[in-house]
This record gives sequence, structure tokens and C-alpha cells, in this order.
Amino acid sequence: MAEKMMEESDNRRGVVGSFDEWSPLEEVIVGTALGACVPEPDPWVRACVSSRNVPWLERFGGTPFPRDILEPAQHELDGLAETLRALGIAVRRPEPLDHCQLRSTPHFEGRGLYAAMPRDILSVLGGTLLEAPMAWRQRHFEHEAYRPLVERYAAAGATRLRAPQPLRRDDLYRSPGEEGSGPFVTTEREPCFDAAEIIRCGRDLFTQRSQVTNLAGIRWLRDHLPAGFRLHRLSFDDPNPMHMDSTLMPLRPGLMLVNPSRPCHQRDLLEQAGWRLVEAPPPALPTDWPLFLSSPWLSMNLLVIDPRRVVVEREERATIRQLRALGFETIELPFRHVYTLGGGFHCATCDVRRRRDPADDIARYRFPGCGEADDAVRAGRSADRPSA
Ligand code: ALA
Repeated sequence: MAEKMMEESDNRRGVVGSFDEWSPLEEVIVGTALGACVPEPDPWVRACVSSRNVPWLERFGGTPFPRDILEPAQHELDGLAETLRALGIAVRRPEPLDHCQLRSTPHFEGRGLYAAMPRDILSVLGGTLLEAPMAWRQRHFEHEAYRPLVERYAAAGATRLRAPQPLRRDDLYRSPGEEGSGPFVTTEREPCFDAAEIIRCGRDLFTQRSQVTNLAGIRWLRDHLPAGFRLHRLSFDDPNPMHMDSTLMPLRPGLMLVNPSRPCHQRDLLEQAGWRLVEAPPPALPTDWPLFLSSPWLSMNLLVIDPRRVVVEREERATIRQLRALGFETIELPFRHVYTLGGGFHCATCDVRRRRDPADDIARYRFPGCGEADDAVRAGRSADRPSA
């Protein structure tokens, strides 16, 4: 029944249609670094970054990213866009806006971040384009950069699913040392999640409670999923989770790259469901490389072009060797300055359409559900937490 509903939504999908992270890529959004603004180290930002980055964020917060970061990052993003176009893939870009503009809502005043990471804000679930209710105040107005694209896709037949825009008042965030939400900076005051917290494997989607995704957000997503989709919540040994796409990276049906420093508590379930989990090699990034908003595990934040080809950072030699050993052709591009902005190839893109091969039996890679984790979400418990 669920498969039948999914087939029907597939036929209606118009120009938007993607069910997984690996089917042949036909259309993609690639982010832009133009107008990027350094975030101030607010509590919700501090919760997601290493404490050694706080002095830099204090110094530059609220101003444009320095030119020696921004220009090479934009060059790398443009290079990715050109490479994808040369492969015959349609590439779209968000609007270049000034994210350093001071903006206000009735509840707060502040500056933005960027439109460099479409994966954080958009996800495509079959023929549905999902706009996420992101947690950071800096991202309140980020939707504007994608609005022309989203409206065009909606006009061409995509189902637009926009989560309620959070008010992002003070009570969405826990103050340092405050009791009540476990180790997470976000409370349960209103639903929030980032779209990069969704990993797609056909009708089965994975997510996690994180610094930017609360249980109310996971519940909202589960309640509003397009017909035939199921959402499973996983958890990891990760003291500071934020975005799943450097933790779990499906490469093709039955094969997932996993982060060895963040073991999955439901590994058995994934294996029982037919997946081979392969540990990613350590990142090659030098320890003194400026990395303000993410971990060096962006090495496994990959863009799969199709089940034979994958885009990978050109200096990540161990990852490249591993991908080749797994049978992939690697497309090696420079991306370390984009890393400095906070993302890798998966973060900096959002696949709008991937060709679905009818011979590819997604139903075979079904997941039996995640037992207690799912029950906890339904019961609204916030007790589960990553191990420190
Ligand atoms: N924020 C994720 C990480 O750095 C992508 O691992």
C-alpha cells in the first residue's frame, strides 16, 4: 500500500523528485558564499562549535566573512557548479543577498548567516519540497534566498511543505548551565529542525535529536511526511550532534559510510535491514585549518552523482582510496575553503531531482523501525541524550 502511494506521488512529482542520496542526479541547487555573515557566538551557536573558535566569532561576528575565506570559497562553489553542469546536471543557485543586514522581528533583532548550505534548509522527499524551521536566529530570513527557486518548483508542480516558522524567542534556547533539555541548547518550546538532519534512503528517512533539532521538530516532521514515508530517529555517541550528514552517508543501496568517532546506537537495526556499514577513514584536514562551524568529518560529507560516481575533496586521499576500493569513480574537487564556512559537498547542495530506476528495489532496504527511540518521540520524552 505504502509503495503504491509512493509510486503515485512519484508520477505526480513534476520537476521535483528525489527519494535518496544516490540515484542518478539530474538537478541540484548549489549554495553561494556571496553575502555570507560571520555568526555572533550566541548560546545556540556556541553549543554547536568548538570553544576554541569562540574568540574568532567574537571578533568577526556580525561582519562579512573575511575576503581571504569568502573569495576562494565562492570559487570552489562555482567550480562545483561548473563540474556538475559539465556532467549534464541542471544547476540552480540561490539569490545572493546581504546576510549582514540588521533585521528584526517582534521577538529579536540580529543579522543572518548565508545561503551557502542549501542542505540545511531544504530537503526533497519524493515530489515534496520541504522548507525547514531552522533553530538559529541567524537563519530566520534565509528562506528569502531560495524563494524564487521554491516558487518556480511549486509552480511546476512540486508540493511545497513549509514547516511553521519558529518565533525563536529566548525560551527556545537554554542558557548555559540551565537545567531542563538534557545536553541540548534547544528546548521543546516550538518545533525546530534543520533539513541536514534528514538522511534519505527511499521511503525510510533518518534523523536525530541534536543541538538544532528538537523532539517537537521531529514530531512535526513525522506528522507531515508525504504519504508512504517513514521517519526513524537514530542516536550516536556524539556529545555535540548537529546535522547527520557527516555521521551517516548512504552511498548506494545497501552501502553506508559511517563516522567511526560517532558510533550508531542502532547499528544492529541498520545491518539487520540489509545495510553494510563501512567506517570512513580519518579526515586529512590539517589541525590548524580554520574550521569555525563544523568538524573535520566533512571529509565524509559527499555528493553522490549516481551509484558509480561521487564528488570528494581532492586532498582527502584516504577517503578517495576507500571510495575507489568500494567501486566508485571519484570526482575530486577543492572544497576546503567551503569547509571553513561550515560544510562539505552534501551540505552545499540540495538535490532537486534524481532519476529513479524502477529496477532499484528500494523496498528491499526497508527499516524495521527503531523501537524505543521512536516510542520516545511519540511520547514526547526528551530523556534520551547522546552519551558525553
Ligand atoms: N556539522 C556536521 C559536522 O561537522 C556536518 O560533523
